Amino acid sequence: MDTTAKANFHWSCKHTWKRSAKNTAWCLLGCAIGDLGTILFFQLTKIPFPVLGIMILAIINGLITSIILETIILMRQSFDFSKAFKTAIGMSFISMISMEVAMNLTDYFLTGGAILTWWVVPIMLNSEILDIGCGRGKILGNLTSKLRLANKPIGIDIEQHKDRDKRIIFNKTDAINYLKKNRKKFDLILLKQTIHFLPLKDIKKLLLLCMNCLNFGGRIAIFTLATSKNEIPTFLKMKKKLSKSLKRDQKILRYINGLYPGSVSKTFSFKVKISREKYVEMIKNRYISTLLHLSSADIFKGISEISRKYNKILNFKDKLICRIFKK
Ligand SMILES: C[S@@+](CC[C@H](N)C(=O)[O-])C[C@H]1O[C@@H](n2cnc3c(N)ncnc32)[C@H](O)[C@@H]1O
Repeated sequence: MDTTAKANFHWSCKHTWKRSAKNTAWCLLGCAIGDLGTILFFQLTKIPFPVLGIMILAIINGLITSIILETIILMRQSFDFSKAFKTAIGMSFISMISMEVAMNLTDYFLTGGAILTWWVVPIMLNSEILDIGCGRGKILGNLTSKLRLANKPIGIDIEQHKDRDKRIIFNKTDAINYLKKNRKKFDLILLKQTIHFLPLKDIKKLLLLCMNCLNFGGRIAIFTLATSKNEIPTFLKMKKKLSKSLKRDQKILRYINGLYPGSVSKTFSFKVKISREKYVEMIKNRYISTLLHLSSADIFKGISEISRKYNKILNFKDKLICRIFKK
């Protein structure tokens, strides 16, 4: 601000506040064009590029388009080019960067990648979130910290797992019983690798109850293991059980599609690098539901098969399908 401008400036000047609000709106629009445009470009062209790279490019492009747009707007408000450009850079660089980073992190933590998902937009600080079959509640716990959610999310599970996450409100209960009694409304209901525990008739009942518990515009997100090209390391008996369970998942997904034809489908792929020793430990703890009904002898045999079949470090892609539907 030059000395004359300083002398004429008053915090209570309505005109200045109005103009500043307008300029901020243009700045936001500029950021969104570059940022979302970059993510959409990679999403549509499917050019293989690391998520972090896309995020960084999106941030840089968001800043560039924001500065261009702001410079144009300031020039229309009778600034000359050099002054408009300097003001555009100086006035909002820090706030733009933090906003850009927050925008990209929200996308990343809710979608697991640089993917434009419009349903993440309403998932802001005040959202009410329910995770059905939350297990130890780690997903919700991480989401709470990363997004600084104002309301503690609720996780329900028929089992009371040890070392549950303290950042969630946990209820040991059956999903259908809980939803029947529940009077609270949610913005997002998650079911991650849980739906296959229920028979088809109960799935229909559960989804109907979930819909009744959603706020208008709220979402239900159902995650299942990708039913084809799954890379999960297995032993023979586990593989047989897994392929049977994936066939059932396919049937469930078709059934859900029939019930809610408007659902959106997304595929997520997470690179996993884990030591064989840790993976064996997970098998011992029956980390995946296909292992739940195997005998201890089967698990013991399976572990020695895993030790023969795989290297000391396991690298694979954990692929998930997500069906999202909106109220
Ligand atoms: C494979 S685990 C998934 C846990 C967690 N969602 C995750 O992805 O890490 C499935 C969970 O669903 C729970 N579950 C199964 N049937 C349920 C039901 N009818 N009501 C509530 N929870 C249930 C199980 O106890 C189990 O913890």
